[in-house]
Amino acid sequence: MLRKRKVILCLGSSCFARGNKELIPMIRKFIERKNLADKVEFKGDHCFDHCSNGPNMMIGTRMFHQVTPENIEQYLKEGLGDL
Ligand code: FES
Repeated sequence: MLRKRKVILCLGSSCFARGNKELIPMIRKFIERKNLADKVEFKGDHCFDHCSNGPNMMIGTRMFHQVTPENIEQYLKEGLGDL
């Protein structure tokens, strides 16, 4: 079975307070819109220990920093573009 690519949003208190909460529905919608539900697993996790560069998101092994509603789509495309 194909392993799903993981999108992990930091929901530690710093990233959560700085806007990651608003990104949850945006990421869900992106996955739905692009029909990636069977290829991508999306979940939240606790602090990535990079709070000062947050809000943070991991796609596979790559960490994206200072994620905002404005750049989230671009980062998702970068991280998942080959799917
Ligand atoms: S709370 Fe997100 S890196 Fe610490």
